[in-house]
This record gives sequence, C-alpha cells and structure tokens, in this order.
Amino acid sequence: MKNVMLYPMEQRVAVHTQARVLDALLAEELNVLMACGGHGLCATCHVWVDAGMEELTPLTEREKRTLGWVTGANVRSRLACQVKVLGDGVVVSVPEGMYVESTQNLEKLIGQRAMVNVLHPIDGRVLIQKGKIITRSRIMELASIDFDMAQLRAKIAKG
Ligand code: FES
Repeated sequence: MKNVMLYPMEQRVAVHTQARVLDALLAEELNVLMACGGHGLCATCHVWVDAGMEELTPLTEREKRTLGWVTGANVRSRLACQVKVLGDGVVVSVPEGMYVESTQNLEKLIGQRAMVNVLHPIDGRVLIQKGKIITRSRIMELASIDFDMAQLRAKIAKG
C-alpha cells in the first residue's frame, strides 16, 4: 500500500501500488464528476502534485493534450484518472469548486448564491464565481456546456 495526502481536505489515504490517484480521491468519497468517464479528456479530475511527482507514472500524451486546455493547469498538473501511484510521499491538491455537467444541474440552484466556484467540466474555467447569485439569464448564457458535453460524449463513443 502507498500513502497519498490530499489537500485542502488534509486527508491521508492508503491505496494499492499502481492504483490511480483518482482511487485515492474516490476512497475519500470526494464527489469527482468524471465527466469523461476516466478517459483523460476533461478537467474534472485535475489535481496539482505538491510533492512526490517522481512516485507517479509519467505524463501520457493524452494527459498532456488535455491539460493543455485546462484552466489553471501548470507543470504540477495531472489528471487523477490517468496517473498511477508507484511510491509513498505523493501530495496532491484538488482545485476548489464544483464542476457541472449540464445547465440542468444549475437550474435547481436559480436564485441561490454559488457556495463555491462553478466550473466548466472540460476546460475547468470558472463559470459562476463563489458568492454570485445564480440567475436564469446566466444559465442561458452557459448553454455551451451542454454542447461541449455532447461533443465529448461523441468523441468517447468514437474511441
Ligand atoms: S475523469 Fe475526465 S480526465 Fe479524468
């Protein structure tokens, strides 16, 4: 077993050697949206590796490509569904915010203030800032989420 430390929740999780970092997140019952189903094509499992990058499997071409369009990605970024844990001492931070998969998810929240940043599932950009009121007109402006998700599903279906 190998230990992975998760921030900002400050949780230490033991996972099997060769388990995905995603498995550490899921073990903590974090609500990882996994918009692409773990295919390395979205932002919803983006994490920053604060320590122990050398204890992880190398960056794949697909991961590199996807991280190229994820907001906030940098040299410490990985996609938790693509990267496996080889040794102890891995520390990862999870971006703060809630990814949404469709505008329908947001309709339930009309009239409320966003408790956290609302994030785009594919590129990770902030759609609605924490503290802002979620309005119907704002949701209508965000129709591109549904379009982008339909495109993603078509891409996954093609393989
Ligand atoms: S779940 Fe989509 S990239 Fe990991």
